[in-house]
Amino acid sequence: MKLKLQPISLIETSMSKNRKSLKLVKSTSGLSTKDDKKVYEMAVRSILKTLDLKDNYTYGHSLRVAQNCLILADHMNMDDEQMYDLELSALFHDIGKIGIPDRILSKPHRLSDDEFEVMKRHPEMSYEILKDFEGFEQIALNARHHHERYDGRGYPDKLSGNQIPLFSRIILLADTFDAITSSRVYRDGMSVDIAYSEIMENAGTQFDPLLAKAFVKAMKRRHSTKEDKTFITLIDDFKEFEYKIGDEEEAA
Ligand SMILES: [Fe+2]
Repeated sequence: MKLKLQPISLIETSMSKNRKSLKLVKSTSGLSTKDDKKVYEMAVRSILKTLDLKDNYTYGHSLRVAQNCLILADHMNMDDEQMYDLELSALFHDIGKIGIPDRILSKPHRLSDDEFEVMKRHPEMSYEILKDFEGFEQIALNARHHHERYDGRGYPDKLSGNQIPLFSRIILLADTFDAITSSRVYRDGMSVDIAYSEIMENAGTQFDPLLAKAFVKAMKRRHSTKEDKTFITLIDDFKEFEYKIGDEEEAA
């Protein structure tokens, strides 16, 4: 399979560094650019609302993953355009879970091997949902590859190293961090220190080693400063779903 790994540009930035000045390059509706962006972002929110109604946990997870991706992106000094594309890629990475039956998606116990095989189809479903949305070609690929492993033993396409889109490698880190630290009905979330150890133990096998190191550094810096800055621009009620860093310390 031939993959387009070059990032595409959905948006262009004005001379200002204000992210609110981002505007779409592509127009599908003939509306003015400003109206296009408004309609486009309403569509984004509507699709995410569908995910929220299907599975509130996955919706909250997607918001936290987006926020943690952007913490790393900020640490890496990504520009506004890249951060916007990363935010969209992270918000939509698990959208394919809409296609997973509830009995598997919401099962309060460990999945059987057969159930896990069904669950593993969600990145391809994310890709199928997104790929025909004009301008979302790279975002669809970023979602498709968010469970690839750096050593090539992931899925669905067994890509390795830099074959895996950069944003997919970042999403996997933020995804793993949230999966370890967030609570489910059947278990409490683990501490951020356990998440950091798990990520560093798997740097170079599951994770891109340089990105893993940078992610842990960026998250620790955020943790130590208890900074309360939201990078997400597309969802107004993000705070409701934000992982409260430091909760486990306060509870102890
Ligand atoms: Fe996933």
